[in-house]
Amino acid sequence: MDPYAGKTVETFVNYPTIFVIFGITGDLAGRKLLPALLALFSKKLLPNRFAIVGFSRRTFSREEFRDLIRGNMKIRPGQFKEEDVKHFLDHISYEQGNFDSVPAYSRLAETLRLIDERWGQCSNKLFHLSVPPNLYYGILSNLSSSKLTQPCDDHTGWTRVLIEKPFGNDITTARSIDKFLGKLFKEEQIFRIDHYLAKEALQNIVAFRFQNPIFEPIWQNTYIDRVHIKLMEKDGIEARGSSYELVGALKDMGQNHILQALALVAMNEPRSVKADDIRRERVKVLKALKPISKRDISQSVVRGQYSGYLTEPGVSAHSLTETYFRVKAFVNTSRWKGVPFYLESGKGLAESKTEIDIYFRGKSSAKSEGTGSAGNILTFRILPDEGIKIKFFVKTPGYGFKTEPRTLKFKYSDVPAFNSVPNDYERLIHDAFIGDQTLFASTEEIMASWEFVTSILNNWKDLPLNVYEKGAKEV
Ligand code: BG6
Repeated sequence: MDPYAGKTVETFVNYPTIFVIFGITGDLAGRKLLPALLALFSKKLLPNRFAIVGFSRRTFSREEFRDLIRGNMKIRPGQFKEEDVKHFLDHISYEQGNFDSVPAYSRLAETLRLIDERWGQCSNKLFHLSVPPNLYYGILSNLSSSKLTQPCDDHTGWTRVLIEKPFGNDITTARSIDKFLGKLFKEEQIFRIDHYLAKEALQNIVAFRFQNPIFEPIWQNTYIDRVHIKLMEKDGIEARGSSYELVGALKDMGQNHILQALALVAMNEPRSVKADDIRRERVKVLKALKPISKRDISQSVVRGQYSGYLTEPGVSAHSLTETYFRVKAFVNTSRWKGVPFYLESGKGLAESKTEIDIYFRGKSSAKSEGTGSAGNILTFRILPDEGIKIKFFVKTPGYGFKTEPRTLKFKYSDVPAFNSVPNDYERLIHDAFIGDQTLFASTEEIMASWEFVTSILNNWKDLPLNVYEKGAKEV
């Protein structure tokens, strides 16, 4: 049987559902979450009966709230029909209250009960936490003690929680959040978001590797010289100064997105495309990452900060928070022994691009790293211009026998069906609705990636912080 067969698109249009958003007026809700819900709505992929209830500390009139949400939503002019936007906004309401106020949760429970009463049916409830991790405890325990997370019965009205990254601050805090979550919820109720896992072109790595058998035999250290995973951004931190200060690039992009990309490149073939099988293979890679010791750190890690970061709003004038990192990592398995994985991410760089380059060994450089000028390169382009390209060599036409590089390219934008793929958050919301956890990080994956990142953080302060110009090509 083909282990890749059978993944179908399921819709959930017949399940009445309420989506509760903690942090609905924040940056993430405006940039990603609400536009994705609007996209699902305009494609008629949301349940016939659905409501979005935001929880917010501030007090607004209904109109003020609606205008604020409309203004915050990052959508392109003409991207959606005005009529769809208007009807979508009609489904959103909010509940005023502080995240730590117990009576506010009773009011929220009452609001949800009234919606169910209007629908004449007990609805499913999805709770999305789009807030800094230090607020998780209060919100989750209040949700649990107000019984908001209890289903109506064994068959109706499931409840699920969607938790954003960063999941903790280091391995210790991640473990304690996880323990706490485990006391309040069952594993199948918890959806830990790493939106990179839901990027179409990243998921394609699994299909590409295991559905094209010509690559599997060469997917190992005899043929691969090195792997370079880059998540580069042109923008700076924009309006996120105060929250970015507490995180920095390594925790913002490294602990999660970059390591998940590495896991997809390095994992063994899963037994099937079921969530448990894929997550099991991803976690094996993350557990095999070689911790970076104090002795190796200066050779293996670079950190930087763009010039001008210190004057961004919300940033301390003496901040040592990094906006860039580069790490040379190794996966301790027989397949990958000796192959460096360069992991690089930063803000304020020359261009925005997310790309994974697999450098194959060149004819003349089988032993030395980095000199494979004649080697083939396979590139997975994740953002923008999703696609795949392979660099190979051909004979230069003419009398002699020289060779020159050429490229074979597949671009999503060249194929109409690849042009309208659901974006990451649309896919995540869809999968959370149908209860598929494949594209969500498991607790074991999160702990394994924190173990690795914590080995860097332990010696982080010994490293110089390189200041680079905004728009730099290299750090
Ligand atoms: C988020 C980070 O997880 O990913 C942001 O917190 C970053 O700092 C963003 O800008 C990048 O996501 P995308 O999907 O725009 O590449």
